[in-house]
Amino acid sequence: MRVLVTGGAGFIGSHLVDALVARGDEVVVLDDLSTGKRENLATVADRVQLIVGSVTDRDAVAAATDGCAVVFHQAAIASVPRTIEAPVETNAVNFGGTLNVLEAARAAGSRRVIFAGSAAIYGDDAPLPVGEDAPLSPLSPYAVEKLCAEHYVRVWAPLFGLETVSLRYFNVFGPRQDPRSPYSGVVSIFVDSLLRGEAPTIYGDGEQTRDFVAVDDVVRANLAAAAVSAPVGLVCNIARGEATSLNRLFATLSSLLGGPAAPRHAEARAGDVRHSLADVTRARDALGFVARTPVEVGLARLVEWARGVRGRAGADPGSG
Ligand code: NAD
Ligand code: UD1
Repeated sequence: MRVLVTGGAGFIGSHLVDALVARGDEVVVLDDLSTGKRENLATVADRVQLIVGSVTDRDAVAAATDGCAVVFHQAAIASVPRTIEAPVETNAVNFGGTLNVLEAARAAGSRRVIFAGSAAIYGDDAPLPVGEDAPLSPLSPYAVEKLCAEHYVRVWAPLFGLETVSLRYFNVFGPRQDPRSPYSGVVSIFVDSLLRGEAPTIYGDGEQTRDFVAVDDVVRANLAAAAVSAPVGLVCNIARGEATSLNRLFATLSSLLGGPAAPRHAEARAGDVRHSLADVTRARDALGFVARTPVEVGLARLVEWARGVRGRAGADPGSG
């Protein structure tokens, strides 16, 4: 089967590409390499067609979608603070880019679009663990963009007969998550700091919680979303259903890596969700998906991988 992975050179997208190639799919990747990297596709480069282009470019999206039965739409500017700094730019990608993908999939006669949605859309008002029908109160441009995009995705199912599934990922972690930007995910930043013997910074008191889910589980969720029968505009949380505070994350990573005994603290981030915890019942019932990798196991694997990258790079873990 020919499939498209937008954002396929990124953290989550590249793991998904690996799995799709391994099962024998013909994979097209559309990525502007803004945060994604060619190295992330190194082991499958000869079996993947990489189109370097933007989801904001309708011609590029149309070319990439041509002949694809399934589209995994992962491309986005994934950082909450980045969307606060540059909302017009990020809206064009996260919202406008999604509309372009839907229209291209419709024109190409694709069967299904799987959308990388986000738990950020719940904000802080919903009772926890949060189910998909909870009230939505986005706190950042990122969350607004993901919510608006998800509405488009849902509406394209009954309107145009395109099968769509929105996966609301909670906080994904694992190898290849780029640590070297202030916009990176917290797990990758903490691992990178501790490997260099530096104290990471916790924004706020560290008692905020996240539902961390390993990237291999998120890949399995995507494969399940592509395979289940006839969902019409299905929306599903993808998480473990377990809350971990940042203080606990720091303690776990410190015990694996050593390094400074205490983190630094800085002011809480604007637009930050305080607590995030998923009800994962629907993912189990509708997708047959249950996350398998315990957080501690996923963190230990990530640390092993990061040590290997650092070793190969001569103590400079900037790539990989
Ligand atoms: P990432 O930054 O590693 O991946 C995003 C990819 O999209 C990158 O390869 C980047 O180069 C590409 N991209 C960005 N703008 C583009 C554009 N205009 N055109 C084409 N490609 C573009 O981040 P990730 O963590 O792998 O995120 C993947 C998806 O999952 C995103 O949609 C993100 O919003 C969503 N998500 C991530 C998390 C998480 O915890 N990492 C949680 C919820 C949702
Ligand atoms: C993350 C994802 C977002 C996704 C959302 C779903 C990234 C970059 N962001 O947002 O795409 O939609 O989960 O829930 O992958 N923090 C620190 N120190 C740091 C960095 C962060 O204390 O050095 C804190 C933040 O203030 C926040 C928490 O860690 O409280 C998580 O931050 P971050 O990893 O950026 O993720 P989210 O904002 O939850």
